[in-house]
Amino acid sequence: MSLNVPDLAESAFRPDLLKGRTAFVAGGTSGINLGIAARFVQLGARVVVVGRDAEKARAAAASLGAPEQALGLSADVRNYEAVHTALRQAVEAFGPLDIVVSGAAGNFVAPVLGMSANGFRTVVDIDLMGTFNVFRASHEFVRRPGASLIAISAGQADHPKTLQAHACAAKAGVNQLVRVLAMEWGREGIRVNAITPGPIANTEGMARLAPTPEANARRIERLALRRYGEASEVAECAVFLSSASASYVTGAVLYCDGGSGLGDASDRALSDGIA
Ligand code: HXC
Repeated sequence: MSLNVPDLAESAFRPDLLKGRTAFVAGGTSGINLGIAARFVQLGARVVVVGRDAEKARAAAASLGAPEQALGLSADVRNYEAVHTALRQAVEAFGPLDIVVSGAAGNFVAPVLGMSANGFRTVVDIDLMGTFNVFRASHEFVRRPGASLIAISAGQADHPKTLQAHACAAKAGVNQLVRVLAMEWGREGIRVNAITPGPIANTEGMARLAPTPEANARRIERLALRRYGEASEVAECAVFLSSASASYVTGAVLYCDGGSGLGDASDRALSDGIA
């Protein structure tokens, strides 16, 4: 699945905005998180991308096109010690962390009766425990004041969806964890926020949730902005949250979803409402 490389010309931010900053992006070897990592590198940051597979992590870092600014490490976010080790290695390579993104996610589409306890636990482990592990372990490694921690959440946190019991439970937990950490760590000058992406083009998540052209068309018809988003658009939100422009923003959930969370914006929904 090829992700469009973010085009810096589209960015509202100045090209050296993140120069001298270090970012750790868990789940940064593909999809939206790789898009975030790419934008961070373009804006001057040193970036460590972390994924389960060491070779894929190395390849993802190499794809960022700036060897002195990018490093790929392997860790499963379900394993606290592995996450801690990766964080330590990141700091040894690039210095204290200014930005930590927790974006690793797992998902499959199944009704509750179609998933075992282990299936439910697997998604909760990756999404919710993974975010706990990444943020909890990063605390000793972040530069403060000024650190920005960002969880990549999902609309499932707010809206119950059939076939998504595990992701709904896990992502609701992620949003609450973000809010509590914002309260507990704010006094140290650490800000903690979440981004809720909507449907983003060319991602594994959308391939799983809308696997056919018909399913894609139905989704687009219901979206306020009538199109899927790009990874670069989520990346711009991550840059904003990590910049001085967001210095008084903490505990927020920033929706970058084309209006997806507002509900059905199709003309059919409108006429149904009038009739
Ligand atoms: C029912 C399933 C299943 C399915 C897996 N399981 N797929 N159950 N229907 N389609 C069950 C297995 O049977 C097993 O239970 C348990 O889940 C663990 O599966 P494993 O394959 O052993 O786990 P693992 O190798 O760790 O894989 C984790 C995974 C997999 C989440 C199941 O899909 C994965 O690796 N995904 C990573 C990539 C990914 O999902 N990307 C999309 C993220 S997008 P038993 O009982 O048999 O042992 C995303 C954003 C979308 O998350 C917005 C929503 C949040």
